[in-house]
Amino acid sequence: MRHLMNPLDFSVEELDRLFELASDIEADPAAYAHACAGKKLATCFYEPSTRTRLSFEAAMLNLGGSVLGFSDAASSSASKGESVADTIRIISCYADICAMRHPKEGAPMVAASFSGIPVINAGDGGHQHPTQTLTDLMTIRSLKGRLNHLTVGLCGDLKFGRTVHSLINALSRYDDIRFIFISPEELRVPDYVIEMLKEKGIPFEEVIRLEESLPQLDLLYMTRVQRERFFNEEDYVRLKDFYILDKAKLSLSPADMLVLHPLPRVNEISVDVDDDPRAVYFKQAQYGVYVRMALILTLLGLSEKGKTAPSSRQQA
Ligand code: NCD
Repeated sequence: MRHLMNPLDFSVEELDRLFELASDIEADPAAYAHACAGKKLATCFYEPSTRTRLSFEAAMLNLGGSVLGFSDAASSSASKGESVADTIRIISCYADICAMRHPKEGAPMVAASFSGIPVINAGDGGHQHPTQTLTDLMTIRSLKGRLNHLTVGLCGDLKFGRTVHSLINALSRYDDIRFIFISPEELRVPDYVIEMLKEKGIPFEEVIRLEESLPQLDLLYMTRVQRERFFNEEDYVRLKDFYILDKAKLSLSPADMLVLHPLPRVNEISVDVDDDPRAVYFKQAQYGVYVRMALILTLLGLSEKGKTAPSSRQQA
């Protein structure tokens, strides 16, 4: 049985197969409409979410399966003191696969070690968010046509942003990747990530100003300042509007640069950027559904025989 805790749990070749499957689903969703008939996905969310939980649920429903779960720790037995280990043993009796988000780093990993079903880490504290990374990679691969030879700018809260940590991990396995980390001093990438890049000899720069980096970038990954992980509100208020990407700043970027954002956005991208063809963060959310469909099929061992229904286009 396989779980997904970290994007590195899948080899580059396995990720390629997953993205191929996701593209196939995108091209012909009707062919997968019954691939998970009779299967159940449990979404156990101990922390708020819109996209991740609903995209998992949409993914399972698109595959003809069903969903159950909770979206708030207060409405689960965690509020009575139940451990994650006990909860997952119970969920294993009710569902075939589980997506779990938890404010504590490592909680989904603990769950996986007690689970009778595959567990997907849907975000653990400030640590990792592997399915957002699959979404990001799928978006880059589809819209840029490659996952190598890229100069990637990551901007905003690089300290607490788990999507940033997972994406750096994942991209560091591809050839000729260069990172530019754009953050205020207080929100720099954690040391363990910097050490990993140094060990692997991957080039990176750390800068404070966004404007100077923009002309060099193939991708700009914007993130919000993670208010819920701050120790005091004052620091949050001081840093929250440090970066605002607007039309004027975007005009400094190459015409084929992509702007990604895991969302939710707060102020860091002005709405006047939304209509620019470089702004792909809403498309990115759509790719998240296809890639989660592919992931569910893969972890349930259904990826080979996933195509159960004749395609609508073939029928037509
Ligand atoms: C991200 C998360 O939860 O880490 N959201 C998401 O899943 N798309 C990013 C964030 O909350 O800033």
